[in-house]
Amino acid sequence: MKAVVYKGPRRMVVENVPDPRLEDPRDAIVKVTSAAICGSDLHFYDGCTVTQPGFIPGHEIEGVVAEIGSGVHSIKVGDRVVMPFNIACGYCFNCVRGYPNACLTTNPQGAGAGYGYPGLGGYQGGQAEYVRVPFADYGCLKLPGQPGDQWEDDFVLLADIFPTGFHATVLANVQEGASVAIYGAGPVGLLATLSARLRGAGEVYTVDAIPERLQCAKQLGATPIDASQGDPADQILDLRQKNTALKQGLLPGEEKMKGVLCGIDAVGYEAIDYWDAHQRQSNIVLEQLIHLVAPTGHLGIIGVYRPEDPCGQTEAIKHGELPIGFGEMWYKGQAVGTGQTPVARYNRLLRDLIVNGRAKPSVIVTQRLPLDGAPEAYAKFCERAPGYVKVVLKPGLAA
Ligand SMILES: NC(=O)c1ccc[n+]([C@@H]2O[C@H](COP(=O)([O-])OP(=O)(O)OC[C@H]3O[C@@H](n4cnc5c(N)ncnc54)[C@H](O)[C@@H]3O)[C@@H](O)[C@H]2O)c1
Ligand SMILES: [Zn+2]
Ligand SMILES: [Zn+2]
Repeated sequence: MKAVVYKGPRRMVVENVPDPRLEDPRDAIVKVTSAAICGSDLHFYDGCTVTQPGFIPGHEIEGVVAEIGSGVHSIKVGDRVVMPFNIACGYCFNCVRGYPNACLTTNPQGAGAGYGYPGLGGYQGGQAEYVRVPFADYGCLKLPGQPGDQWEDDFVLLADIFPTGFHATVLANVQEGASVAIYGAGPVGLLATLSARLRGAGEVYTVDAIPERLQCAKQLGATPIDASQGDPADQILDLRQKNTALKQGLLPGEEKMKGVLCGIDAVGYEAIDYWDAHQRQSNIVLEQLIHLVAPTGHLGIIGVYRPEDPCGQTEAIKHGELPIGFGEMWYKGQAVGTGQTPVARYNRLLRDLIVNGRAKPSVIVTQRLPLDGAPEAYAKFCERAPGYVKVVLKPGLAA
């Protein structure tokens, strides 16, 4: 079959590789109809993750079941499915408690496995014509409709970034009427913006410095904050200060509750200091959120941070030790949630929001390309070229 293969930093090629086979009775083989490129894929693409070349990337995969093992009971050949990016067994200590993101049986090196990603168990990804799906009963979400229909690009986002954007709002405790600041208007930040609206947030501020991404955030109902125009936390505090209607119903002392109740980091360790030196500063979004989120507020940190970061700005950051204002965080009593998204907690009901016309996450998709378009798409997405917000590869499209 044809597949995208990672050959080293900034080197993706499309080549012929052996077809995946059933390796266990609980496996399925899925013929891929859509496979998206994720911001997380850029972490190894740009060389800021130490890894061995030679694997097939891609953890956002939708397709049709082509083959099942004798131990698979809930899906059959021909079913349309999308796979959570977490590869999980469904029966271990963490899976049964609702944490498939930390499955204990699928990754010999630690807790949590995934498709096509360094350190997540060595599974091949789905930027290919076919993919092997381990634990297929637990690892496939069945979908209505037909491949290529009006939901194709919405459903592929159920593999990762729609549940991830939603999970961020759960970690940040977004409730009806809540004030929310979201850093990053990449695909994840944009779908966190959509999710905050779905959960009834009162005010949503979405921060970035890329005009078309800010424009999309605005269409999704946020107040866009352009980080190139000055310190974004100050901009948000200022806007709230000027909102006189907000102030009219305050309780005694409430003016001291400066800042928002909910803060989301949808950027991660590759954060850029857009309003000052204009270079990478891994702790900058965390610092902003600790400063901006009010006492008793919640922080949802779904942007990725790593124990080892060869591109770190200091020796400490190279080892995942980020300087942050922990004292301020503690004094404010902020709650913090981190980690990989447990996709299976959310994907079913988010699918039904799509089917019922209540959510259209695919508004963020900007490119639909054949597999051969992957090398160029990676390069463009990595440099955040105009027009590249979310790329979906279509193995069925002719080059
Ligand atoms: N926790 C999970 O399970 C999970 C799942 C998927 C993705 N992620 C992570 O989420 C993050 C975002 O993913 P994405 O696909 O949207 O990536 P992306 O790289 O396209 O988006 C990141 C955005 O952040 C913006 N940005 C950079 N510095 C900023 C700053 N200081 N303030 C505000 N915005 C800033 C960039 O301009 C960019 O638009 C990545 O770290 C990715 O790995 C986590
Ligand atoms: Zn991802
Ligand atoms: Zn498990």
